[in-house]
Amino acid sequence: MNSVEELIANQKPGFALDQRFYTDPSIYELEIERIIARNWIMVGHQSELPEPGDFKVVNIANESAIVVRGSDGELKAFANVCRHRGSLVCLESEGNTRKFTCPYHGWMYDIDGNLTAARSMPSDFDKSEYGLNKVSLDTLHGLVFICFSDNPASLDDARRDLAEPMAMFGLENLELAAHKSYHIDANWKLSIENYQECYHCATAHPEYAQMHTLMLDDKKRDRLQGHMESKMEGCGLRSMEIDFADTHAPAGEFGYAYSRTALFEGYLTGSKEGKPVAPLLGDIKDYDGGASDFNLGAFSFLLAYSDHVVGYVFTPVDMNNSKCDIYWLVRGDAEAGKDYDVDELTWLWDITTEADKTIIVNNSIGVHSRYYKPGPFSGMEDLEQRYIEWILRELARP
Ligand code: FES
Ligand SMILES: [Fe+2]
Repeated sequence: MNSVEELIANQKPGFALDQRFYTDPSIYELEIERIIARNWIMVGHQSELPEPGDFKVVNIANESAIVVRGSDGELKAFANVCRHRGSLVCLESEGNTRKFTCPYHGWMYDIDGNLTAARSMPSDFDKSEYGLNKVSLDTLHGLVFICFSDNPASLDDARRDLAEPMAMFGLENLELAAHKSYHIDANWKLSIENYQECYHCATAHPEYAQMHTLMLDDKKRDRLQGHMESKMEGCGLRSMEIDFADTHAPAGEFGYAYSRTALFEGYLTGSKEGKPVAPLLGDIKDYDGGASDFNLGAFSFLLAYSDHVVGYVFTPVDMNNSKCDIYWLVRGDAEAGKDYDVDELTWLWDITTEADKTIIVNNSIGVHSRYYKPGPFSGMEDLEQRYIEWILRELARP
């Protein structure tokens, strides 16, 4: 059997990954150490946890974290692992609390992670040494990110590089209108690879293909793109593109990017028939008929329409299972039922993600076959190829 190093070296450029990248537990272990635990992962928006004691539990691969608004009003994250004998401490997925009580032997922690009670411990037991372990947390214009490294790369570059487009959509002041978690019976890379290419969109997503123009050839898209660009300024949007190469992502990070693509004529936003679904975001004054893509590192993506933002996060559950978390964000002052309808808002990306689930699982079944052999990428899978090359580089980086 080849070593991981040999496998990486033998990977044919421009071709899909070797089967073992999806089926070998030792490679999955390496991914946990070198990719999952080193990179920032988006876990929602700050508006979800407005009050001290508001919390949610986030499970990623073999880690569980409690994200909580502390007593000082700041967001914090802790490992959901009891300092006594390691039980999960918080079994609820979200809520508001004044303390977290371990269900095993009752050790109690406050919302700042301090151990406040532990029965029958020796007299020299010092509670201050047994607070919950901290998990790195930072925010990016209102979006909450965690990282399972005590020494993560700084998000300052992303904050600076993406400040302008993020301000355009008023990201800091959005609020969560809906969140849904989709379980996918497939390795996490297959889930992200699928998101990175729109070669499949025309065949798999009739609803998406009706309004989005990403799968058009450049010539056809240029006309629509020009039409959108001529409207942008009047709508309060700036025409700009940020390429991965223009950003200052720290070494090893997948990087950041931003671009806006025209929708088909008549479509104002990503909804049934392109009709508005929520109040315009930020300082946007009118619909330009575009949709913006943000790449936020290795696992997190945003799609920003003029009236709502959809956040996608793909994470592993274990080697053969992953999940896609989708966050639908609207203006902070928008009211459900009055300014937007959750079903209308979530329609497009719910239906599209259900279809993606199916194709990803079918992909996974085939990739496990004795007949699977990596095939060549099309000209519409360049971003996926970039992603795979990054994974190979990170796996090789000690
Ligand atoms: S493991 Fe938590 S109190 Fe014992
Ligand atoms: Fe898709």
